[in-house]
Amino acid sequence: MCGIVGYIGQEKASDVVIKGLERLEYRGYDSCGITFYNPEESKFITNKDTGRVAKLLNDNHYPDNNHLAIGHTRWATHGVANHQNTHPHYSMSERFVIVHNGVIDNHKELTFKYLHDYEFRSETDTEVIVNLIEEFAKKISVVEAIRKTISLLDGSYALLVIDTNDTDRIYAVKNKSPLLIGESDKGIVLGSDVLAFVNYADYYYLLEDNSVITVERIKDKFVFEIFDTIGLKIGKPEKHPMDFVTDELDKAGFEHYMLKEISEQPTVVRKIMSEYMVDNKLRVSPDIKAMFHQVERVYILAAGTSYHAGLIGKIYFEEIAKIPAEVFIASEFAYNEPLIEPKSVFVLISQSGETADLRACLMNVKEQGFKTLSITNVPTSTLAREADATLNIYAGTEIAVASTKAYVGELAVLAILARSLSIQHSLDLVYEMSRAAVAMENIVDKRDYIHEVVQQTIKGEHCFYIGRGIDYFVALEAALKLKEITYIHTDGLAAGELKHGPMALIEKDVPVIAIISQDHINNNTRSNLEEAKAREAKPLVISLENTSKGNDDIVLMDVHRLLSPLITIIPAQLIAYYKALDLGVDIDKPRNLAKSATVE
Ligand code: AGP
Repeated sequence: MCGIVGYIGQEKASDVVIKGLERLEYRGYDSCGITFYNPEESKFITNKDTGRVAKLLNDNHYPDNNHLAIGHTRWATHGVANHQNTHPHYSMSERFVIVHNGVIDNHKELTFKYLHDYEFRSETDTEVIVNLIEEFAKKISVVEAIRKTISLLDGSYALLVIDTNDTDRIYAVKNKSPLLIGESDKGIVLGSDVLAFVNYADYYYLLEDNSVITVERIKDKFVFEIFDTIGLKIGKPEKHPMDFVTDELDKAGFEHYMLKEISEQPTVVRKIMSEYMVDNKLRVSPDIKAMFHQVERVYILAAGTSYHAGLIGKIYFEEIAKIPAEVFIASEFAYNEPLIEPKSVFVLISQSGETADLRACLMNVKEQGFKTLSITNVPTSTLAREADATLNIYAGTEIAVASTKAYVGELAVLAILARSLSIQHSLDLVYEMSRAAVAMENIVDKRDYIHEVVQQTIKGEHCFYIGRGIDYFVALEAALKLKEITYIHTDGLAAGELKHGPMALIEKDVPVIAIISQDHINNNTRSNLEEAKAREAKPLVISLENTSKGNDDIVLMDVHRLLSPLITIIPAQLIAYYKALDLGVDIDKPRNLAKSATVE
């Protein structure tokens, strides 16, 4: 979703901002822009339009000695993706320039109350913010005007603001949308994600909500200060070194990040095993175990792929740990809470740790006094920091919008958590996970075969995945993968439900892909597939060695039945990948989607 980057320092500011925006491209966007100070013309210049960040760089001139810039990648929320709605936005007199990540819920009321004399050039909620600052700055200082403005805003926002009368300062604000500060001897960089700082910062700082930041040049030094919303100075937060592996950010010879990330999945499982291994057993820390003492029910909250991992997490909690569990889509739970048992623990699953729907849930349940545990891939993320405790999935940076390795990472950590909480389950997780990693490797190695299967089977505009029990939950994730990167309409169905309606959509050659990893429901799912075949569907079976029959198309190595999702999802990810490749769509950045959904 929207990404922001700002820089003041000795480096060429436009380069820092554009490279930073490129690093944030994976989040998903449909337009982008930059405002920088051009010392050759002694004025601020703005370049912006729909399309890619590369265009922003290639189509415009940036003098070498520009030292201050702010930039933005926009994922449209208020108003279509066009030139006018693209950030940065100017105030009416053009004194102030702003980039904004988030959504202002009361922008209409604020316009009506304070800005009736203002003309607007875009349909965005952001323009209201910059005009409020302009309006208030007529009578008070700029920083006071910013503080007064944010005191009126309802919603989420990370903002960077420039006063065009001041070529040495950027103002920033963070509330509910991500914003971090990066620092080097050469300058200060601001951004929605630490990835934006690669090569331009030695350290980074995480910011709390309701922080107001000034970043400025004082003589030949570049410094920042943080204040609260009433103007009191806050001490600098903890300094983190930029020591993560930048190799992760390259494609390592793969044509797309998605294929690289699919291939990394066995390594992710092994990495998780090494991180959670204590005395030859896979365990979470005693503090986290203690959170579940006498728990009556676990509530799992998540969105998208992480929600699908949560559905399998429910099976793990109930079968392995014997703790009743419920799973909710975060955006539903946030505003439609069920009746909750008093001794409940909330487990929030999120690759990014920044999903706004989930954060809304976290705020609600924390306020009610419930214990919260997040499971994320980004230990510095909002959800990791704000939950009572957090578990890292150690998947490494996931760049492709379609989540793959984070899903298996979430499953593996959920299994470890459930096993740690179980009193006497016989599951030997070390042995079973090691076997699963081998089975995963085996199918990744056979990816060319999956490509052939795709070319023979996946045709037309519709597709169905079916399964029962744990396979049904994998079918949901498999369908999400195919639809999000190929744009083929795909449903994941409980196999037994096919005859209760969806069968009406089955006609000649519609692919119906059955996932069959569980012995006790093997025949049932096969019967449902036969019913589809009788309507001339094109069948495809993904099974394990011990559930396979006759001519099953994709037969995977046997693994423990509870760990089968780690394996059965891989052919489905590869089916999606190769179909998208053959269709020639933008695999890593599918249309309309964002990696990190930072608005509700
Ligand atoms: C998965 O392929 C999606 N791109 C999407 O469903 C994603 O899983 C969802 O937005 C949740 O993200 P999170 O795990 O970062 O919270």
